[in-house]
Amino acid sequence: MKILVIGNGGREHALAWKLLQSAQVKQCFCLPGNGGTALLQGCQNIPLAVDDLERIAEISQQEKIDLVVVGPEVPLSLGISDRLQKEGIQVFGPTKIGAQIESSKSWAKTLMAEAGVPIAQGETFTDPMAAKAYINQQGAPIVVKADGLAAGKGVIVATTVEEAKNAVDSLFDDGFSLIVVEECLVGEEVSVLALTDGISVRPLLPAQDHKRVGEGDTGPNTGGMGAYSRAPIATPELLERVQKEVLEPTVTALRKRGIDYRGVLYAGLMVSPEGEPKVLEYNCRFGDPETQAVLPLLETPLDQLILACVEQRLGELPPIAWKSGTAVCVVMTSGGYPGEYAKGKVITGIEEAEGLGVTVFQAGTNLDHDNNLLTDGGRVLGVTAVGKDFDQAITQVYQGVDCIDFEGKYYRRDIGYKARKI
Ligand code: AMP
Ligand code: GLY
Repeated sequence: MKILVIGNGGREHALAWKLLQSAQVKQCFCLPGNGGTALLQGCQNIPLAVDDLERIAEISQQEKIDLVVVGPEVPLSLGISDRLQKEGIQVFGPTKIGAQIESSKSWAKTLMAEAGVPIAQGETFTDPMAAKAYINQQGAPIVVKADGLAAGKGVIVATTVEEAKNAVDSLFDDGFSLIVVEECLVGEEVSVLALTDGISVRPLLPAQDHKRVGEGDTGPNTGGMGAYSRAPIATPELLERVQKEVLEPTVTALRKRGIDYRGVLYAGLMVSPEGEPKVLEYNCRFGDPETQAVLPLLETPLDQLILACVEQRLGELPPIAWKSGTAVCVVMTSGGYPGEYAKGKVITGIEEAEGLGVTVFQAGTNLDHDNNLLTDGGRVLGVTAVGKDFDQAITQVYQGVDCIDFEGKYYRRDIGYKARKI
């Protein structure tokens, strides 16, 4: 089987790496890929933009791709799956209408309310004055969200009414015409990435992300500074509730609307101190960096799971098999990220790190003409270790991280520590 993975992050490196472990997968392309996918045995990069749907459709035909796996939300929300299906190419990822579960917060909230899925109470606004009046009435803390893809910058958790009102102005100034204002939930966040064929839905192992740039969850939000899986907060009882109260009703509600959703349904959950789960947001794709922590634990060949979704026979598969233990992924970034940062710094030490048993997933990297590996983005690498428990995985992952060097490197030293205390 020939597979095309769309995207250029650590998530896509992990997807290609895992898919290539399957005996059925003979060749993998990554579009556009990164330095890691360029160096991955059996994988080849295709230098095209992820939003160039026409060229992606063309190249998939030319290369006789059997299956396309879409990483990021942007091509999904533009309709890459619709476009490829028109060509008769098998694709894993929802169609444009289904991708609204991520690309439109108000659409997702209406769907979830319809389905009876537990969510934060809130309202949708097209008028800034009305939004501010609602904020005055509700008080702070309160959450203001842009309705639309905003690359992680569309959610403001405001601690004061003033801050919330400023957020309303800045989102409308940024060109958003619809916003959601909702109650601020407290508790601990957990990501449940589930696979669905539009009828059945099966969760992968739960994971936790570290969104803030600073240790102790401080400072600005990022794309994710590290992740771990399994997540102790997601007990079997909680996961059973998520299956019955969140995932299954959502898939049923999508189907009722005539939406044939085959891909990842990623529930970002807040678990209250009393253990009640509520959905903060849905994403229509694998999480990054959760994928880099979840896939190393997966025993069942990934292509089998993905094909079962695409061919709508997920319900017939035996339970998904997992390795025992815990995976911890530490993201190494360019200094300054999520603000301004430099690119083009030489990266060394990956082989030494891998010699210690960690897996290094590359994100913002590329190769120069002499095949030197250079930094090329904010999040540069995701280093993952699998251990029998958190202590072992954390010790090993930081031994790996310590081997790797590039000018200005930054990473959090506290990935996974919160879970270790549970
Ligand atoms: P994003 O991934 O950009 O949609 O940002 C979502 C993040 O904003 C979540 O991971 C939470 O940390 C935070 N967030 C979103 N909605 C709420 C809410 N209702 N209450 C508290 N925090 C929230
Ligand atoms: N880890 C957060 C995300 O993928 O959206």
